[in-house]
Amino acid sequence: MSSGFRHGPEGLAVLGLSLAAAAMVLVAAPRPAPADRTDYVGSETCGACHKAEYDKWLHTAHARATTALPATFRRDPRCAACHATDPLGEIPEVGCESCHGAGARYYPAYVMRDREVARALGLADAGEATCKACHGADSPAVRPFDYKEAWKRIAHGPAK
Ligand code: HEC
Ligand code: HEC
Ligand code: HEC
Ligand code: HEC
Repeated sequence: MSSGFRHGPEGLAVLGLSLAAAAMVLVAAPRPAPADRTDYVGSETCGACHKAEYDKWLHTAHARATTALPATFRRDPRCAACHATDPLGEIPEVGCESCHGAGARYYPAYVMRDREVARALGLADAGEATCKACHGADSPAVRPFDYKEAWKRIAHGPAK
């Protein structure tokens, strides 16, 4: 999930000052065809069955990744690629499906109970590579992404 937008040094400087100015450093780039928003069910739907995971997620920065942005950027595809669940920003926040895959086909209980069928219908195996699609070179983080440390801050699911 590479994007046209870079939080470069210029971007970082303006983030602190003026997000309107940040728009000026945006580089237009061709985008892949966006997935249909109907491919996604939204985190609340996952949370109906995965309450513990949902409650943990609510306390992470991911649960505010869209609403933390100034309104003008919330539906901007250049930002939504990493700051929303779907590529157009119609489903806000970095939700369950940002990492586990768009869930419209795998979320029914009878599918979920079958590991293989769920994967065939879009459930993705999330891990370090999933994070790096957003926490890569284009992210504004000052320190390089450390998976183990970052995972501790968003950990959920059965302890391993
Ligand atoms: C109708 C209830 C239900 C809904 C809705 C649901 N799940 Fe599940 N999910 C389950 C069940 C049941 C399992 C089987 C394992 C278990 O008992 O926890 C499961 C398993 C999983 C697993 C582990 C799968 C594995 O094989 O390692 C993940 C990850 C997961 N769900 C994510 C999600 C996400 C993301 C959503 C929303 C798109 C979602 N689930 C929606 C019931 C549900
Ligand atoms: C390639 C993925 C990516 C894209 C595209 C992207 N961001 Fe980000 N952004 C991130 C990540 C990852 C973080 C969190 C970095 C960290 O703290 O580790 C972040 C953090 C931020 C923050 C700081 C958030 C906070 O609460 O402190 C702002 C503001 C921000 N981004 C604005 C934008 C805007 C505006 C756009 C679109 C013009 C955009 N970003 C596009 C990945 C991206
Ligand atoms: C930022 C990425 C990310 C987000 C957001 C996220 N997860 Fe996960 N999730 C992971 C990773 C990584 C694992 C660990 C996978 C592993 O250890 O195999 C995981 C593990 C799980 C598991 C346990 C899977 C197993 O092995 O049994 C469940 C269930 C789950 N997540 C559900 C959810 C639900 C529901 C949401 C939304 C409320 C959510 N996740 C949000 C990345 C994410
Ligand atoms: C779809 C893009 C995306 C994916 C995938 C993603 N993140 Fe994030 N993450 C973000 C954005 C954007 C922020 C900043 C949100 C904000 O502060 O507004 C963030 C913030 C964080 C933070 C808080 C950083 C801070 O300094 O406050 C942690 C920790 C984190 N992510 C861990 C992970 C881990 C671990 C994974 C993989 C399992 C992952 N993320 C996958 C986009 C993503």
